[in-house]
Amino acid sequence: MRLTGKSALITGSARGIGRAFAEAYVREGATVAIADINLDAARKTAAEIGDHAYALKLDVTDQASIDAAVKAVESRTGGLDILINNAALFDLAPIVEISRASYEKLFSVNVAGTLFMLQAAARSMIARGKGGRIINMASQAGRRGEPLVAVYCATKAAVISLTQSAGLDLIKHRINVNGIAPGVVDSDMWDEVDALFAKYENRPKGEKKRLVGEGVPYGRMGKPEDLAGMAVFLASDEAEYIVAQTYNVDGGQWMS
Ligand SMILES: NC(=O)c1ccc[n+]([C@@H]2O[C@H](COP(=O)([O-])OP(=O)(O)OC[C@H]3O[C@@H](n4cnc5c(N)ncnc54)[C@H](O)[C@@H]3O)[C@@H](O)[C@H]2O)c1
Repeated sequence: MRLTGKSALITGSARGIGRAFAEAYVREGATVAIADINLDAARKTAAEIGDHAYALKLDVTDQASIDAAVKAVESRTGGLDILINNAALFDLAPIVEISRASYEKLFSVNVAGTLFMLQAAARSMIARGKGGRIINMASQAGRRGEPLVAVYCATKAAVISLTQSAGLDLIKHRINVNGIAPGVVDSDMWDEVDALFAKYENRPKGEKKRLVGEGVPYGRMGKPEDLAGMAVFLASDEAEYIVAQTYNVDGGQWMS
């Protein structure tokens, strides 16, 4: 086991990729806070994972909620070792139809949520003096723009940039900040993405999802579990010398 005795908080882990991370972390010996805006779903997921997972209500757009979640982890486990900034929202629209409300919502969760969650975790880790690991969920969408996906792509480019700056600033405290850039992963989020593409590209439901899966060099969409190995590795002792990087885990979609 590679994370024995470690305390982790994973944002947005009631479902999807975050849930797969939580399951993998518990298998590796960690105790994990399933921290999600949907507390009922978080409770259900934590109960299904078992004794080493517990639910926390967290809204990453609300500073009081962020501070309370970090405090809750400190008092329950003695201190935070690992944060995964995983919660995010998706939206899609042609440039001429993007609304301010959509822009503000996505930047508030995906960028400000990542930064201020990272900041609160870093303050806690620095005060404790034992270093730590922070993993930010980026995306292939952060590597280049897409015609209908301007805002989400911009948020994920910002996550890659924040990972670099925070990684360089925090390594002196032995806090390693790195990122993971998935390609296309079969989750509830992608069902919502497919429905939006169906609307804007006038396609039958399910077609976009099938086409993007066929386009992956590996031959299929990713599954949440496909990402878990990298999330465990980046939190493990083996990744001690890795700083400010974002790794593509995408079946060969992107090369950088
Ligand atoms: N699914 C993909 O194809 C894909 C591809 C690339 C990157 N990603 C990234 O991976 C991460 C996880 O994606 P997923 O597909 O599992 O998403 P998902 O939509 O299935 O899960 C996101 C979770 O975040 C929670 N959440 C939403 N707003 C929140 C808030 N304000 N505070 C706390 N929690 C909140 C939701 O309740 C949900 O449980 C995201 O950062 C996403 O951008 C996903």
